[in-house]
Amino acid sequence: MIAIGSDHGGFELKQEIMAHLEKRGLEYKDFGTYTPESCDYPVYGKAVARAVASGACDRGIIICGTGIGISITANKIPGIRAALCTDCFCAEATRLHNDANILALGGRVVGPGLALKIVDTFLDTPFSGDERHKRRISMIED
Ligand code: RB5
Repeated sequence: MIAIGSDHGGFELKQEIMAHLEKRGLEYKDFGTYTPESCDYPVYGKAVARAVASGACDRGIIICGTGIGISITANKIPGIRAALCTDCFCAEATRLHNDANILALGGRVVGPGLALKIVDTFLDTPFSGDERHKRRISMIED
């Protein structure tokens, strides 16, 4: 189950991503926002991060205008490793190296075509499991 959420700056891209997840037959839970009206990104960043941290959802996707505010918010929740990605190289690397459990995107930064490729790369790349990466990840929350 994928948790997804955005503020108004990511609202349009969230709709595109949800349609894409549906096409791929992937289950998701939409934590809002549900309208394009102006709203506060921490509300949605926290909701998605808590769903992932609790184990209710396996991965998360969060979107605001830049992806910055919502990723800063999500990374405050223990157990969350939210990665703001603007390209597929970073999306792949953050899964392989950081075992990132949330992908953050900027709805005003990446176009929908690239964003969907980033989403696919993030969802389809497993963690490498390498000892050095496990060690570094465990050091994050020491
Ligand atoms: C909202 O205008 C904008 O500040 C927000 O979407 C995000 O970019 C914050 O980091």
